[in-house]
Amino acid sequence: MEVFIRYLHFISIFGIVAALAAEFFLVKDRVNGQEVRWIFRIDGFYGVAAILAVAAGLILWFGIGKPADFYTKNWIFHLKVGLAILLAFLSLPPTIFYFRNRKAKADEIIPVPRYVRFLIRIELFLLVVIPLCAVLMAKGYGYFG
Ligand code: HEM
Repeated sequence: MEVFIRYLHFISIFGIVAALAAEFFLVKDRVNGQEVRWIFRIDGFYGVAAILAVAAGLILWFGIGKPADFYTKNWIFHLKVGLAILLAFLSLPPTIFYFRNRKAKADEIIPVPRYVRFLIRIELFLLVVIPLCAVLMAKGYGYFG
C-alpha cells in the first residue's frame, strides 16, 4: 500500500510538471479561442494531478510509512508543504484567465496578460525547488525532533 501511495505521489507530480510545461509552451502573448480551450483542459488536468499529489502526500505524512513526527518535526518538510501551497495559489490567476476566455470564438485573438506567463514561470521554478526539499527531508535533513 505504501509503495502504491508513493507511486501515486510521484506519478501525479509528473502530471503537474507535464501540464505546466505544456502551458509554458502553449501560452504565448496572444492565443486564439481554440487554443484557450485546449489550455483550459490541460489546466484542469493540472488541478486533478495536484489534488492527487496532495492527497497521497498527506497519506504518507499521517497515514502510512515513516512516523508522522518524522515530517512534523522537520522544517524542510514544512518549507516543502508551504511552497506547495504557494504553488497552488499562484496557479489560480492563470486558471481564472483561461476560465473567463474559454467561450471565445475559435479564431478570436485574445491578448494574454503578462502576469499569466510570469506566474507560469514562477510555478515552474517552484517545481525545481520543491523536489529538492523533498529528497532532503526524506533523508532526515531538517529534522529537529
Ligand atoms: C501538501 C503537499 C505535499 C505533502 C504533504 C507531501 C508529503 C510527502 C511525504 C510525506 C513524502 C515521503 C517522504 C519520505 O519518503 O520520507 C513525500 C515524498 C516526496 N514528495 Fe511530496 N508532498 C507534497 C507535495 C509535493 C509536491 C508538490 C512535490 C513536487 C513538486 C513533491 C515531491 C516529492 C518527492 C520528489 C518525494 C520523494 C522524496 C524521496 O523519497 O526522496 N511533494 N512527499
